[in-house]
Amino acid sequence: MCGIVGYVGERDAVPVLLEGLRRLEYRGYDSAGIAVQTPDGLGWRKSVGRLTELEQALAANELHGRPGIGHTRWATHGEPSTTNSHPHLDGTGRIAVVHNGIIENYQALRDALGACGHTFQSDTDTEVLPHLIEAELAQGAPDSETALRQALQQARGAYALGVLFADQPDTVYAARLGSPLIVGIGDGEYFIASDVPAIVKHIREVIYLNDGEIAVLTPDGVTVKNLEGEVIEHKRHPVAIAPEAAERAGFETFMLKEIHEQPRVLRSLLESHLTDTDRVHIPDIGFSDDYFQLLRRIMIVSCGTAYHAAMYGKFLLEHLTGLAVETDLGSEFRYRSPRIERDTLFVAVSQSGETADTLASLRLAREMKCKVCSICNVVGSSLVRESDSILYTEAGPEIGVASTKAYTAQLLAFALFSIHVGRARGELSDARAAALVKALAAVPDAIHYVLERADRIRAIADKHHDGPSALYLGRRFNYPTALEGALKNKEISYQHAEGYAAGEMKHGPIALINEYMPVICVCTQTDDEVYDKMISNVREVEARHGRIIALATDGDRQVADLAEDIIYVPPISEEFSPLVNVVALQLLAYYAAQARGTDIDKPRNLAKSVTVE
Ligand code: G6P
Repeated sequence: MCGIVGYVGERDAVPVLLEGLRRLEYRGYDSAGIAVQTPDGLGWRKSVGRLTELEQALAANELHGRPGIGHTRWATHGEPSTTNSHPHLDGTGRIAVVHNGIIENYQALRDALGACGHTFQSDTDTEVLPHLIEAELAQGAPDSETALRQALQQARGAYALGVLFADQPDTVYAARLGSPLIVGIGDGEYFIASDVPAIVKHIREVIYLNDGEIAVLTPDGVTVKNLEGEVIEHKRHPVAIAPEAAERAGFETFMLKEIHEQPRVLRSLLESHLTDTDRVHIPDIGFSDDYFQLLRRIMIVSCGTAYHAAMYGKFLLEHLTGLAVETDLGSEFRYRSPRIERDTLFVAVSQSGETADTLASLRLAREMKCKVCSICNVVGSSLVRESDSILYTEAGPEIGVASTKAYTAQLLAFALFSIHVGRARGELSDARAAALVKALAAVPDAIHYVLERADRIRAIADKHHDGPSALYLGRRFNYPTALEGALKNKEISYQHAEGYAAGEMKHGPIALINEYMPVICVCTQTDDEVYDKMISNVREVEARHGRIIALATDGDRQVADLAEDIIYVPPISEEFSPLVNVVALQLLAYYAAQARGTDIDKPRNLAKSVTVE
């Protein structure tokens, strides 16, 4: 979704803004723009397409100045065009606004402003904001800040804003309601940004703005106020991310780097949640064992890849805790009439902690008086701030749009959580819990084994990437793995892919199978009937001449005899096999995308963090 960056300091703002926008590229965008103060008033440049287009516009027509604001736009209201790009200006060209979110009552505001003589250039909802501020000033607001506050009191919807006034030197305003925005504090320099990685190398501390707050950034410091103008004291948080975490570190893409980070991320998450005696310990869980004993139900809600983690969480929690567990998509949960009661624990799963539908669902659950536990990757995110309890995935910044390390960290978080709850409820004996921890501890090395065989996976991707479609099949714990493998493939390679519960294949997708159809079958070995059932499904594909690509346990001859191509993974317990299997599917999608020549870190039309419905 849209990205915002702003700068107040001694330097020329233009290169600082461009660099910040480049670091926000991963969020997804289709146009970009900046505005700075110059001795002659505000100067701005905008362009459609990638940031290189904006850089070309700046090379053709130089711009320098400070302070400044910048924006990458992911179109919602109005097509991607220079006119619709941000910053948007008022009628006098003296107020510039960049905005992430949606002003829901923009049409009514636009009509009212239009009736007073304001004319609009763009199709966007955002453009009403500079005009509203202009109108407030014209109607006697004593200063820019008051005009901004009065304008925002009329806006409904969601926003993160950066605002620049030609008549207010050395000042950038920021405002937040429902869309992410942080203030960064450097050495005599101040920044705003949609997230920390965009400005991490310049700052020491962060202020996480709350909804309904305005920040005033000047060379003398930052003041935060509410919409009534009252000053709010804010805690400054030290920056917890190392600047190099937002770099590619020699990998050709962020996605490949993040795929390779998984053994380290999972090992460290495990270590921070195991005691000296190898028992699961979740420091911030915030709920007593008694609470879990009395608990009746868990409802897990999330979107996208995080929803596949939720499905895995459901299967594992049911398996290890005896609780009734349900899942739903954020976009569905919030619009149905969910029957959840106080004794339901609501679990929200989100990498960013800013996904609009997940957040709205969490708020609904809170209205229903449920306790909320979040599994989240981003410290200080909205989800974290609105939850009773947090299980951080500690995966570090994830820049590739297609989620990889955040997903496996979510799976591991569910594994740790399930063992914790299972023990608290007396469903897991000491011996069983110890065996589970031992099996979990084998996961990072097993992933490493898969990564070491990436060339074999690349060869398979090269062979199968050019078909129109691919089918992914899995069962039980690996049903979400099949869904996630298919999602990765379509997200980055744009090959149509469908994930299915293998047992459901006969009820539809079997009609698609012919000698051209790649069918990726997750059939790693287990001790029980699920493996045998999966083999029967693979035989059904074979009988219809489908092209079987199997994910199998090292040494499995039965699968080798059936498959055209095979990716081996080391033996791993069935419960935790999805953490390993999915890495092979991430690589398969990655190399298919590479063969198809797509922009892997920034796939078309996708956004990393979906902050609007
Ligand atoms: C977008 C991203 C996905 C992500 C989903 C949910 O669609 O492209 O990678 O899984 O949002 O995001 P969240 O931050 O809530 O996990």
